[in-house]
Amino acid sequence: MQSFALQTIFILALFSLSIAASGLKSLNPCSDDFLQMEAYKEMTRKVNTTKCRVLSTLGAQFAWNYLKTSQNQTQITVLIGTKLIPADIGWLAWGVNPDQPRMVGTRAIIAIKLPNLTMVNTYNITKDVKLGCKLQPSPALDFRVQNMAAGSHAGFFAVFATLILPDQQYNISSLNHVWQIGRSADGSEPNMHWTSLGNFDSKEVLDLRTGSCRNIGHHRQHLRKVHGILNIIGWGTLLPIGVIVARYFKQFPFKLDPCWFYFHYSCQVLGYTLGSIGWGIGLLLGHESKYYTFHRHRLIGICVFGFTTLQMLAFRFKPAREDEYRKHWNVYHHFLGYALLVMIPVNIYKGIKILKPDNRTWKWAYNGILVLLAMVVLALEIYTWAKFLCAKYYKKSNQGSNSRPGNGSRSEKGK
Ligand code: HEM
Ligand code: HEM
Ligand code: HEM
Ligand SMILES: *[C@@H]1O[C@H](CO)[C@@H](O)[C@H](O)[C@H]1NC(C)=O
Ligand SMILES: *[C@@H]1O[C@H](CO)[C@@H](O)[C@H](O)[C@H]1NC(C)=O
Ligand SMILES: *[C@@H]1O[C@H](CO)[C@@H](O)[C@H](O)[C@H]1NC(C)=O
Ligand SMILES: *[C@@H]1O[C@H](CO)[C@@H](O)[C@H](O)[C@H]1NC(C)=O
Ligand SMILES: *[C@@H]1O[C@H](CO)[C@@H](O)[C@H](O)[C@H]1NC(C)=O
Repeated sequence: MQSFALQTIFILALFSLSIAASGLKSLNPCSDDFLQMEAYKEMTRKVNTTKCRVLSTLGAQFAWNYLKTSQNQTQITVLIGTKLIPADIGWLAWGVNPDQPRMVGTRAIIAIKLPNLTMVNTYNITKDVKLGCKLQPSPALDFRVQNMAAGSHAGFFAVFATLILPDQQYNISSLNHVWQIGRSADGSEPNMHWTSLGNFDSKEVLDLRTGSCRNIGHHRQHLRKVHGILNIIGWGTLLPIGVIVARYFKQFPFKLDPCWFYFHYSCQVLGYTLGSIGWGIGLLLGHESKYYTFHRHRLIGICVFGFTTLQMLAFRFKPAREDEYRKHWNVYHHFLGYALLVMIPVNIYKGIKILKPDNRTWKWAYNGILVLLAMVVLALEIYTWAKFLCAKYYKKSNQGSNSRPGNGSRSEKGK
């Protein structure tokens, strides 16, 4: 119990640290390396109001300026750069979307880097691309693009372009812009990007005049952390502790009756409550992010909730100890209980993977919890077998004489 309290404090400390860190991130100005780029210097030379900031995901940095060139159009010049991993191949995309800050509908400029050559083209991303069609260049967009260029400098792979945007569709004080990176391409056709959160959050509504932006926002990021913590504590820690208590403290090797039952019961009720709140927050987050879904994480998550709900029904529908159905109930309760102990860690690791690449702390915090639980189980299991074998040996060597009363054995556990 004490180690659990420590873990909780540890996680909460990590939590507040990472909130503090994420609060600082969105204010970052561009790095010196980036500002040294020739293209950036050229931009500032031409327009002295050029702005630059670090974007919220994918390690991208973004510089821009704009000029009103006629009554109904604005010329904007952009430079976006990031570090591709691996550095010699991949693609970098930047685009504007006239409808919503999202992938489908984006008119993008994509620079593709192959071992031999680098090319830049314009693309119109339609919903067919999301459904699996190849993304092919569309030479004509609904606005003019000039001076497209791409190149590497100081580890950055960067794209530069000038766009002449019609004012009716593109409002420069709330411009929907989207960026993305990918690992591979077939000629001029980029292949699908990763499906981590960073690749899905790579969009915002930017005010080109002030540099202020609206992206997924702190309240969402906050809720994601709460979701992770509640699920790790509720499903990932309390539920297994409750099972350990039922397994080792009911009959054998320790008989703490009816204490084990109150502990099992309250541990599972508390774990179920915290976990369900976390699960509900997960559904809410999934609902809010309407342009993408984490299908497997969602499916396993719903199964976990469903099965634990069935387990909780034990408290209403558990047959009495003498009832003949009690045997079947035990089998079912054990089976579902152990199935859950497999599904839960799988889903927690899936959830942590979604956060890639900013998921190191999560991974190690949860690894720590699992190792602690495993050590406790191992110690109790060894003790159980030692006690069991000793009792058997004792019985054998005293054959004929009465064995001690109250000596449990594994077969009494009702498995
Ligand atoms: C190269 C071909 C591409 C393919 C096959 C592709 C495929 C996909 C798919 C299937 C999703 C949704 C995943 C889900 O629903 O669970 C998605 C999401 C997303 N993609 Fe792409 N994508 C491609 C290129 C791009 C490009 C070039 C950009 C940026 C300019 C981009 C930006 C996004 C964003 C921001 C999301 C998050 C959902 C949204 O806001 O619409 N993708 N992509
Ligand atoms: C057994 C434990 C867990 C359950 C039952 C669970 C359940 C869910 C569910 C049902 C969703 C909605 C999926 C969708 O509609 O797209 C979700 C989303 C999500 N979960 Fe979990 N989850 C668990 C653990 C975790 C953990 C440990 C983390 C991370 C540390 C995590 C991170 C996320 C993220 C980032 C999302 C997506 C949020 C968004 O769309 O903005 N989950 N989870
Ligand atoms: C999500 C919730 C629950 C899970 C995952 C769970 C899991 C388990 C597991 C795995 C065992 C078997 C331990 C062993 O190896 O001996 C067990 C035993 C037991 N649980 Fe639960 N349980 C949950 C909720 C409850 C609730 C709410 C009750 C109370 C009414 C309850 C009553 C029992 C009883 C009476 C046993 C002993 C069965 C026997 O061997 O006679 N459980 N539980
Ligand atoms: C930009 O240049 C204009 C004149 O060309 C000048 O009036 C203005 O003060 C300059 N702005 C900055 C921020 O240097
Ligand atoms: C790279 O260039 C070499 C010769 O210059 C050519 O044989 C090879 O096919 C090229 N590879 C790609 C991927 O274009
Ligand atoms: C780009 O695709 C959209 C549909 O997403 C379509 O309405 C538009 O006309 C296309 N633009 C060009 C230049 O093909
Ligand atoms: C801008 O307005 C002029 C006439 O006022 C029109 O001829 C031209 O097509 C318009 N351009 C755009 C991009 O809407
Ligand atoms: C552009 O966006 C700003 C802020 O969202 C809004 O106040 C303004 O009315 C919009 N202009 C047009 C022409 O839609």
